[in-house]
Amino acid sequence: MDIDAAQGLHYLDNAATTYPKPPSVMQIAMKFCATACVNPGRSTYDLALEAESMLLGARRKLSRFFGGDDPKRLVFGYNATDALNLVIFGVLRKGGHVISSKLEHNSVLRPIAHCCDEYGASSTLVDFDRNGYVDPDDIRRALRPETRLVVITHGSNVLGTVQPVAEIGAICREAGVLFCIDAAQTAGVIPIDMAAMKIDVVAFTGHKSLLGPMGIGGLCVGPNAVIPHSRAGGTGVDSARRLHLEEFPYRLEYGTPNMMGIAGLANGVAFIEEQGGVERVHAREMALARILWEGLRELDAVKLYCAESLERRTPVLSFTIAGYDPGEAGTRLDVDFQVASRVGLHCAPLVHETLGTAPKGTIRFSIGPLTQEADVRAGVAAVRALVEEKRARA
Ligand SMILES: Cc1ncc(COP(=O)(O)O)c(C=O)c1O
Repeated sequence: MDIDAAQGLHYLDNAATTYPKPPSVMQIAMKFCATACVNPGRSTYDLALEAESMLLGARRKLSRFFGGDDPKRLVFGYNATDALNLVIFGVLRKGGHVISSKLEHNSVLRPIAHCCDEYGASSTLVDFDRNGYVDPDDIRRALRPETRLVVITHGSNVLGTVQPVAEIGAICREAGVLFCIDAAQTAGVIPIDMAAMKIDVVAFTGHKSLLGPMGIGGLCVGPNAVIPHSRAGGTGVDSARRLHLEEFPYRLEYGTPNMMGIAGLANGVAFIEEQGGVERVHAREMALARILWEGLRELDAVKLYCAESLERRTPVLSFTIAGYDPGEAGTRLDVDFQVASRVGLHCAPLVHETLGTAPKGTIRFSIGPLTQEADVRAGVAAVRALVEEKRARA
């Protein structure tokens, strides 16, 4: 597969999912599927042991990646949405107060809204400042005796701003409140060390910057974090027990795991390590983001949101072009310039309410580990062409 030219498309929608994936990810996933895709941990024949060994290796790799202390507490599910639902419904099923922010994706906002409407929970959603950052002191001020959970996006999927999770972690630890980060946009982009950052739970998705296939994600759960069950089912062990098991990893895993996805995901993490690790990947991506940022900034008709600097950011930029609806601009970028962007609210409606970009939202360009310089230059050239076209017609 030619990874430089994704069929002529300049793919700048990596915050949605990274594309293309390293060829080795798919090769390993398919090889595993063809040769050892049986249920792990349920039987003792050789193939089942081989499957179990792959699963254990993947738990170890991901747990180490997040600074987790025990691979058994690295549990797999479908994606970040699934993982966040487990945490939010688990913790708030009997009510209680949750603190989150207006930067959140619907995979945080909607489970919280359901817990409030259906289980009598209450929530405080703190604002973000003009640069796109949550103030840890706002989290401190929002704490109440009945606060059970603080859940914050590590990297905004609209603005690319990386939130001060270590400071928030310290506040939560002092208050004895469970702290979960939504690492959908940062896992594989920004180093995460749960112990050093005092994070109790990391919710991750496999198909973005961890470079795995779609349909795999999970939680890395710290030593003192308690997440009550909100689901139950088969675990393959201790089948006579009436209730779902309390022991990890079974505690937060339900039914047959996505073994093919896990095999691919472990290889995605290996790919990041081969590139020199998360810091190196991030530095390369931010060098490309700089080309984009500088190119867009010099166009008067382009308005970038919360992008005064490229410090403390992922390579995600949101903007609007004067005279164009974001939807129209996205179509033109695709049809006339083969540039894939994402337009609209990006599943984060409160960001746009705050910025004044609702209901139409913004255009978003985002870079991934396999983005090439030609892709970002094509993105800038396409936006410039749209701006010039509008000016010529004015
Ligand atoms: C910040 C954030 N959280 C959660 C998600 C949900 O990820 P998934 O669709 O893999 O569940 C996304 C996906 O775009 C995201 O950007």
